[in-house]
Amino acid sequence: MTRAGSPAGVGAPGRALVGVPTLRTDRWWRSPLITMLGLLAFIVYATWAAFIGKNYFYEPYISPFYSPCLAASCASSGAPSLGIFGTWWPLSPALIILIFPLGFRLTCYYYRKAYYRSFWRSPAACGVPEPHQKYTGETRFPLILQNIHRYFFFFGLIFNVILTYDAVIAFRNHDGQWFHAGLGTVVLVINAVLLWLYSMSCHSCRHLVGGRLRHFSKHPVRYWAWMKLSVLNERHMLFAWLSLGFVAFTDLYVRLVASGAITDLKLF
Ligand code: FES
Repeated sequence: MTRAGSPAGVGAPGRALVGVPTLRTDRWWRSPLITMLGLLAFIVYATWAAFIGKNYFYEPYISPFYSPCLAASCASSGAPSLGIFGTWWPLSPALIILIFPLGFRLTCYYYRKAYYRSFWRSPAACGVPEPHQKYTGETRFPLILQNIHRYFFFFGLIFNVILTYDAVIAFRNHDGQWFHAGLGTVVLVINAVLLWLYSMSCHSCRHLVGGRLRHFSKHPVRYWAWMKLSVLNERHMLFAWLSLGFVAFTDLYVRLVASGAITDLKLF
């Protein structure tokens, strides 16, 4: 700890005086820059897609950004509507459910690292000083709220079940007959699988299954599941990016088919 009023970080008393911001000579800025561009691209597309409020349904495909469709206005697009939000809801139906997938992603351990580095530069990379004078980590408000991730995990599971249901429904044709598939079916199935891989590789999920145990030997089933989830957990960053990119692609595919820009390819 530094005394009140003393400079913190690289300028703190007792720290070596180095005349340059960092001694790293590699391209350390490349990774946070790519991360920032990737996240920005998703944010821009997802914001546009969520607000536009049309072309999100083409029987039997529904965009993952709009499922479940809770507003009565969904019926005007042909989408199955639960009608929980009546016609008084003036905005896009996607905005009703956005908080859950958004909260799950925003509080994810991987994305926290990603945006702390690429947007807040806290720090941008190992061995690179951050521009902020104070560091309180996630021990205080507002970042202590990141602990809510374990609860968003459960909401994420509910959405995975719903989107898996949408993928199963996609095995019907445009007239509602079963055991048909188009390219859109494949897209929705891959989207659901990637979302499950993302959730199952979650750190909270791994802790839920194998954490707080004194003896693995007394819990062989949980130990077995924990070992399997640990394999997925090692690839959490990969699943985070794949599922993020593919959920946007799934929305785009449904949108292009629904708007008539492309025709869904019939497989059987
Ligand atoms: S840590 Fe990334 S989803 Fe839980």
